[in-house]
Amino acid sequence: MSSVRLLVCVNQRLGAGQKSCAGSGSRELIEIFKQRFIECGLNVPVVEQVCLGRCAEGITMRIAPGGPFYTRVTENDIEAISSEIRKFSQSKKITGK
Ligand code: FES
Repeated sequence: MSSVRLLVCVNQRLGAGQKSCAGSGSRELIEIFKQRFIECGLNVPVVEQVCLGRCAEGITMRIAPGGPFYTRVTENDIEAISSEIRKFSQSKKITGK
């Protein structure tokens, strides 16, 4: 198993007019991502995270450790993010981090 993982915000902000990732469907999107990763053989865990600090731009995800953020993520972004995770994993193997 790789130490690389995909963090997904599942925070729910309950204030009136406050956008949040859970309110935008992040939990449902996690299940879609997990299923797609299985289908394409991408062995990277999808980890729930309580707020990644970009609430107004959610659904927010980040490749960890230390990878890029993704905002306003939808199902349409799965292939692009999967590709980035593969590249990121390779770079971690090369640098040994
Ligand atoms: S609610 Fe998702 S980044 Fe804060």
